[in-house]
Amino acid sequence: MQAQMQLRSQRTAAGVRTTRSRVQPKVMCRAFNSMESPYAEELKKTAAYIAQKGKGILASDESNATTGKRLQSVGVDNTEENRRDWRELLYTAPGLGQYISGAIMFEETLYQKGRDGRQFVDVLLAQGIYPGIKVDTGLQVLPGDKGETTTQGLDNLADRCKAYRKQGARFAKWRAVVKIGEAGCPSTTAVLENAHGLARYAQICQENGLVPIVEPEVTLGPGDYSIEETAFWSERVYSHVMRLLNEYGVVLEGILLKPNMCLPGLDAPVASPQEVARVTVRTMMRSIPPAVPGIHFLSGGMSEEEATLNLQALNEEAPNAPWALTFSYGRALQSTTLKTWAGKESNWAAAQDILVQLAKANSEASTGKFKGPHPVPGGGRILQALRTGGAGK
Ligand code: 13P
Repeated sequence: MQAQMQLRSQRTAAGVRTTRSRVQPKVMCRAFNSMESPYAEELKKTAAYIAQKGKGILASDESNATTGKRLQSVGVDNTEENRRDWRELLYTAPGLGQYISGAIMFEETLYQKGRDGRQFVDVLLAQGIYPGIKVDTGLQVLPGDKGETTTQGLDNLADRCKAYRKQGARFAKWRAVVKIGEAGCPSTTAVLENAHGLARYAQICQENGLVPIVEPEVTLGPGDYSIEETAFWSERVYSHVMRLLNEYGVVLEGILLKPNMCLPGLDAPVASPQEVARVTVRTMMRSIPPAVPGIHFLSGGMSEEEATLNLQALNEEAPNAPWALTFSYGRALQSTTLKTWAGKESNWAAAQDILVQLAKANSEASTGKFKGPHPVPGGGRILQALRTGGAGK
């Protein structure tokens, strides 16, 4: 590697290809220092496992406050026991591991046990699902009047990663939100600050044995902005993130990316799955290196059916993409599951059944094989207010 770096090919002004030796300053070589991490090989294997064909991630890392709002929407109180029951329903769904390779948890859940006394991490591993942990501590509004945000959580992150790994977590998530669709958004500050946060987080995770899910979410918001505008900013944001991941020595084979699909603003007509796929694949091709094993899209407010149909179209558009084009869905897997359960023991099995059907549909879509019918046809967008402060997803 060093020899390769020293023998650099260069084009002269006359266009003749020449080679010259170049002594790399020491600081440049440090860009590859994560390769020396004792975890480097394990990280690559874990990322490859999670990104394996036909599987996706169950994002169940909502903060206690967000979980509470969702539980209350179906008449269930926001108690620790009810949050635990809800997660147990998800993690013990029979057959879920056929379609899901990773589950992201909130800190409280990582340390909880099921009714049979088994730790949730063991319940998940028994299904072949790797336990993951949300490590950011929420959004903070940046100075200015646009409501742009940065993500908090770098303080003590190394120590927290060590503790989470000890508890069984093998990957992590950090969500950075970039707002578009309003004059002046995104600002250069928001783009650079969020890229920096993601890169520093990813570096700390890899140093401490966790695969970082890098989540730069160009968020679906109000406005009649076009799909091309989303694509323009997404390309810019992802390119900045990738550049900083390189600068910070992050091993790309040992990360997973969790971006948004490119969609027009909420007040513009909905784009067809084919249009979403064409523009999203083009954006990814332009900005994401093939070394990244998996692109796990967030559902971001799409309806359950829309999330599946768009994923299917993505895989039809790019059947030979260099990365897995798959899912890390929260709302698009949980919404109907929660309504079906509604806190009633008698609905437990039916709720698990719908969760597994949704996971199966998305698993098929992730290999371009979803033929329908969808388990939850139609249905509107599943939107939520942008949450700031606290540890809110
Ligand atoms: P949604 O799929 O509900 O957007 O959630 C995914 C996620 O984890 C966002 O951080």
